[in-house]
Amino acid sequence: MIVSSQSTEEDHTQTRNRLEELRRRHARAEEGGGAERKARQHREGKLSARERIDLLLDEGTFEEIDKLVRHRSHNFGMQHNVIDGDGFVTGHGLIHGRQVFVFAQDFTVFGGSLSEANAQKIVKIMDLALKTGAPIIGMNDSGGARIQEGVVSLAGYADIFLRNTLTSGVVPQISAIMGPCAGGAVYSPALTDFVFMVEGTSHMFVTGPDVIKTVTHEDVTKEELGGAMTHNATSGVAHFLSSKDEDCLQRIRELLTFLPQNNLDGVPTRATSDPDDRADAELDSLVPAESNKPYDIKDVITRVVDESNFFEIAEHFAHNIVVGFARMAGETVGIVANQPAHLAGCLDINSSTKGARFVRFCDAFGIPILTFEDVPGFLPGTAQEFGGIIRHGAKLLYAYAEATVPKITVITRKAYGGAYCVMGSKHLRTDVNFAYPTAEIAVMGPEGAVNVLYRRELEKASEPEAIRREKIEEYRDRFANPFVAAERGYIDDVIEPHETRARVIRALRMLRNKTDTMPRKKHGNIPL
Ligand code: HXC
Repeated sequence: MIVSSQSTEEDHTQTRNRLEELRRRHARAEEGGGAERKARQHREGKLSARERIDLLLDEGTFEEIDKLVRHRSHNFGMQHNVIDGDGFVTGHGLIHGRQVFVFAQDFTVFGGSLSEANAQKIVKIMDLALKTGAPIIGMNDSGGARIQEGVVSLAGYADIFLRNTLTSGVVPQISAIMGPCAGGAVYSPALTDFVFMVEGTSHMFVTGPDVIKTVTHEDVTKEELGGAMTHNATSGVAHFLSSKDEDCLQRIRELLTFLPQNNLDGVPTRATSDPDDRADAELDSLVPAESNKPYDIKDVITRVVDESNFFEIAEHFAHNIVVGFARMAGETVGIVANQPAHLAGCLDINSSTKGARFVRFCDAFGIPILTFEDVPGFLPGTAQEFGGIIRHGAKLLYAYAEATVPKITVITRKAYGGAYCVMGSKHLRTDVNFAYPTAEIAVMGPEGAVNVLYRRELEKASEPEAIRREKIEEYRDRFANPFVAAERGYIDDVIEPHETRARVIRALRMLRNKTDTMPRKKHGNIPL
């Protein structure tokens, strides 16, 4: 076949034109809403969507997807206002060399609002994350549903919510709130495993201050209503508080070092120079013998785990329980610990839900659970009872009972009443249960027990205090120790505190190939 030189020249011109158009469109996508809007973003202390992705991912690893996607709206003159990529930057890259999927909402393009087109971009990477078994991280900075698109935008949200739900427990999902996130849009982050917020620039609420003022006549600022501290300390919606975008992105990178890629992956390992059998003599005197004296359970945790490195989650919420990740002999463990330094370590509504959610995350992703227990019981009071402590406490119980990952519990001091059962007791199929010699395992504390058992005798006695002291001592000797439980096998061994690390590591090694199952069912009905 003879090819005319003219048609070859036309082909070349067409190719050159296409290339030019491609470059123009890529440049247009990267420009976003333009220099002025980007400058405003910076003035407000926020990075742009692309700057965020660059800082989050390992350098040079970002592969963008759907940079050429455009919105399809013809309402309100939108057909004349088209930006390639439509304001959402989506794709994949590496964090510490491991695959992740990311999206970032670009507030400079129509306020980062969600259109049909950019909802489909998110759905595409969520489907890829599910199929390839890699974590997904969303950076939210948006005015919500794109007003010009109406119900089509709402449909886009619902498509994402469905993916959040189907993906839950398969790959880790992380949300960073780095600007506004309002209305129904909040429910995508709420369905994910970890929510990060940035102080001063991020806000989350279902209805904003103006609507609240109209409906309930309450005056509240958006910072008070849905700022980073509000959701970290009061509502418990967010798990991490960062001072700036940069700090937030750095902490997401750190969190990922503890997480498996998916529910079948197995926990990641990191070489450690911390000896497995390192004994810590300080531990022997760290837990006070007097049962009412507070101490900081984090001092115990950091003395036991690799290199004292404890990555706490939700540190501003429900201080009476401490949860987070650490490594033992290089492998990730999830730590749950009562905190005697706050509310004496009592379980209440917030600590129960905080603990339950964390236990379920660990169980879903095959992360062993190490529990440190020092709990005098559930917090008494009408606020707790009216608030449903029965229902919420049951969540923690349920979470521990259904968890099939390796479970190890160390009772450092008090394990009283129902809280004894809940906090990873042997009866909830915990694999290895240790207690320190200071442990007190009983139905209730000695004072309470004596008041119940000897009330009439004490009322009649001429010297009730002397009798009370004698009975308390008697009760303490008989019940408030670890030996009664150990005699029954509810405690596998009473250990000396300095050997905690070595014993826990040996237990984890023994449990490495553990398998356990649930009865066949569609799913349980956790008391919500
Ligand atoms: C289209 C939007 C938009 C939206 C903001 N913009 N929100 N465009 N749809 N939802 C545009 C603005 O027109 C403006 O365009 C640019 O984004 C920046 O907005 P500003 O108002 O100038 O920014 P700021 O002063 O920082 O205020 C940010 C804001 C405010 C608080 C988010 O924009 C706002 O209240 N937006 C509406 C929020 C809202 O009600 N969304 C719907 C929620 S309901 P120009 O061209 O001027 O730069 C929802 C339902 C989800 O989301 C349902 C899920 C089930």
